[in-house]
Amino acid sequence: MKITMIGTGYVGLVSGACFADFGHDVVCVDKVAEKIQAIESGRMPIFEPGLDQLVANNASAGRLTFTTDLAAGVKGADAIFIAVGTPSRRGDGHADLSYVYAAAREIAESLDGPTVIVTKSTVPVGTGDEVERIVKEVRPDLDIQVVSNPEFLREGAAIGDFKRPDRVVVGTTGNERAIAVMAQVYRPLNLNQAPVMFTGRRTAELIKYAANAFLATKITFINEMADLCEAVGAEVQEVSRGIGLDNRIGSKFLHAGPGYGGSCFPKDTLALVKTGQDYDTPIRIVETVVQVNDLRKRAMGRKIVKALNGDARGKKVALLGLTFKPNTDDMRDAPSLAIVQALEDAGAKIAAYDPEGMEVAAPMMPSVAMMGDAYEAAAGADALVLVTEWDIFRALDLKRLAGSMNTPLLIDLRNIYPRTEAEEAGFSLIRVGGQGVTAG
Ligand SMILES: NC(=O)c1ccc[n+]([C@@H]2O[C@H](COP(=O)([O-])OP(=O)(O)OC[C@H]3O[C@@H](n4cnc5c(N)ncnc54)[C@H](O)[C@@H]3O)[C@@H](O)[C@H]2O)c1
Repeated sequence: MKITMIGTGYVGLVSGACFADFGHDVVCVDKVAEKIQAIESGRMPIFEPGLDQLVANNASAGRLTFTTDLAAGVKGADAIFIAVGTPSRRGDGHADLSYVYAAAREIAESLDGPTVIVTKSTVPVGTGDEVERIVKEVRPDLDIQVVSNPEFLREGAAIGDFKRPDRVVVGTTGNERAIAVMAQVYRPLNLNQAPVMFTGRRTAELIKYAANAFLATKITFINEMADLCEAVGAEVQEVSRGIGLDNRIGSKFLHAGPGYGGSCFPKDTLALVKTGQDYDTPIRIVETVVQVNDLRKRAMGRKIVKALNGDARGKKVALLGLTFKPNTDDMRDAPSLAIVQALEDAGAKIAAYDPEGMEVAAPMMPSVAMMGDAYEAAAGADALVLVTEWDIFRALDLKRLAGSMNTPLLIDLRNIYPRTEAEEAGFSLIRVGGQGVTAG
């Protein structure tokens, strides 16, 4: 099959490379020429484990090519995926669909025959209808089907998620050719017995938002439990374990921390809230989740200042981890941004280390000194804050760190270090949602 991917970002590049690895012929299109040139010369524009090798293997096998020329890229394609960004629209939080609609128009103008256009970007209910309207307006002469196929991959584990998904959701208007093409696109997944769920187009669009909002709710729920644990002298990690062992609840997404961030949950929860309001069916749970999470990120800054006896002026705070989660260089809506802002407002000097995120982070936080490793960041600091749980921060030499600091204070926002270990190394420890001690 010939597949064209419009947009070669996190989703487009990973999906394109994985489809090529399934044996399809894939062309990835992006309008940013430097991005395409970088990829062609073997430099990945994003950090994603295993991606460079996957791209290199499939490019050298001739199944994966890259271009800035959309018109050439879509010629003869059986399926054309739209994987462009859908950020929050400035001002009102609705999803900004301008890139999706512009791509749809460009595709339609360039087509040389019937095809299936697949929206992989996360788009609100009804977007498929509008894409179809645009395409039909431009090309009334062609039979073009518009399908929704939301993507559920997670950055940092994207290739595994794409190749072994929990499920694939395909939304159509019931057209047989569209269903047959999509079944063919995902046929290689039959080997992994991944369920491909066919449903209505509007339903598929909503499934993506419902999934993200549910996960964001789970995180926010345990974060509020963490606050309650602190107030009543309970341990949130034990609460998570105690409820997560119940199969109806499940243990994933029950880790208390500094609030969710990233390129998806913040914008998608907000967009769902707006959709609910537009249709006069407010989704109050998600409205609350959005508010609670926003407040939480800023509260983490205050937690650090409080640990510095309420006065951060002139004190040095070292941050470990800046990206919104490990194994990515994505800084979009990362909790570290709000933490840095709060610390700067309180007069602190900030040093930081992140294994992959510093290049992207540096222009977003120009006053932060980016250091070569955790030990350099901590030297002479008054507080060490574990913000993102990269593996490399899981087995730090705590004695060495404590010994090099001005005040050995560890604020572990990911609850990685047990109290005994930190205290034996000479640290005073502050965690999230409890003391980190277990009775019995
Ligand atoms: N990042 C994730 O983890 C993730 C996971 C699931 C779903 N999604 C969704 O997938 C979509 C894409 O997200 P992303 O993180 O890959 O975004 P991204 O910003 O990394 O990539 C989008 C790319 O599209 C390109 N582009 C925009 N308009 C174009 C056009 N007309 N022609 C060619 N290229 C064009 C941009 O230059 C950019 O490189 C979003 O809707 C997002 O919500 C993202």
